[in-house]
Amino acid sequence: MSPWSWFLLQTLCLLPTGAASRRGAPGTANCELNPQQSELNSFLWTIKRDPPSYFFGTIHVPYTRVWDFIPDNSKEAFLQSSIVYFELDLTDPYTISALTSCQMLPQGENLQDVLPRDIYCRLKRHLEYVKLMMPLWMTPDQRGKGLYADYLFNAIAGNWERKRPVWVMLMVNSLTEVDIKSRGVPVLDLFLAQEAERLRKQTGAVEKVEEQCHPLNGLNFSQVIFALNQTLLQQESLRAGSLQIPYTTEDLIKHYNCGDLSSVILSHDSSQVPNFINATLPPQERITAQEIDSYLRRELIHKRNERIGKRVKALLEEFPDKGFFFAFGAASQ
Ligand SMILES: *[C@@H]1O[C@H](CO)[C@@H](O)[C@H](O)[C@H]1NC(C)=O
Ligand SMILES: *[C@@H]1O[C@H](CO)[C@@H](O)[C@H](O)[C@H]1NC(C)=O
Ligand SMILES: *[C@@H]1O[C@H](CO)[C@@H](O)[C@H](O)[C@H]1NC(C)=O
Repeated sequence: MSPWSWFLLQTLCLLPTGAASRRGAPGTANCELNPQQSELNSFLWTIKRDPPSYFFGTIHVPYTRVWDFIPDNSKEAFLQSSIVYFELDLTDPYTISALTSCQMLPQGENLQDVLPRDIYCRLKRHLEYVKLMMPLWMTPDQRGKGLYADYLFNAIAGNWERKRPVWVMLMVNSLTEVDIKSRGVPVLDLFLAQEAERLRKQTGAVEKVEEQCHPLNGLNFSQVIFALNQTLLQQESLRAGSLQIPYTTEDLIKHYNCGDLSSVILSHDSSQVPNFINATLPPQERITAQEIDSYLRRELIHKRNERIGKRVKALLEEFPDKGFFFAFGAASQ
């Protein structure tokens, strides 16, 4: 979810593990995937102590898309570590319920009362379209696993009228055909959490739900309306066939599998906040887009990295004889 933290790398003096880990040059869209796994790039950093501790950069995409490209040394480090830390503990029901309630409008409020009428109607229309398309978007494989379109739609969007506009905006972004097709397979960070649990490792989280949720709720009304409007405009053009959204998740996966750290850091993780900075925006709207972008970078990236860095450092100092595996997001939003 968050970018790989330069702050962490600097304060803890980490070195990338594995000779090939910086092979991808910044900005290269195509790297040749190396068939030899030992030569693959990794997002693993080792903290030299006894036993060693590790940082591993995860990514918020279905784990099956990246698992085979993760080198053995990273998987081995995970298996060897007795304690695994994540940003948030996604297997803890409390985390999920806290995230859900943080995304809700205050009691008694409803999107219809909050949104400008035009936006509300377009949102409603778009969600009706998604609901209609969902059965066609799902794959036979998903149906084979007993995943039903109605169930999936309700799980993602069921209570949309009660969500805060910023969370509805993120939800709309994740309701595209490509994203729907990848539902049902855990994302890499969740998969690692499930594995840690299955292997009975001690697990923990360095962030609180509120710390990840409140910054988004802190965008002001005109910023959120702008973001929601842009998101809807994009989806509407997509529906009309006049726009092909550059599918950034595919790019992200490719760069991740190539170990192209700088591109992963710089790219936007499409499961998160969309990029509104668009060359064709009129000047005033471009300023708004830039203000939103820098607010989110400051709150969701820089401040978070500092918090995480301090907590990791404290943990390592408190338990000098434990082997930690820290699995944090490698991609920025
Ligand atoms: C929202 O924040 C932007 C940037 O800080 C500011 O220019 C704008 O006036 C604010 N709008 C409202 C409604 O507070
Ligand atoms: C949505 O964006 C379009 C294009 O930028 C603009 O013309 C329209 O006024 C916006 N609508 C609202 C409700 O902000
Ligand atoms: C860029 O913004 C314009 C105006 O709001 C919009 O018509 C266009 O679809 C946007 N392009 C992308 C790729 O979002």
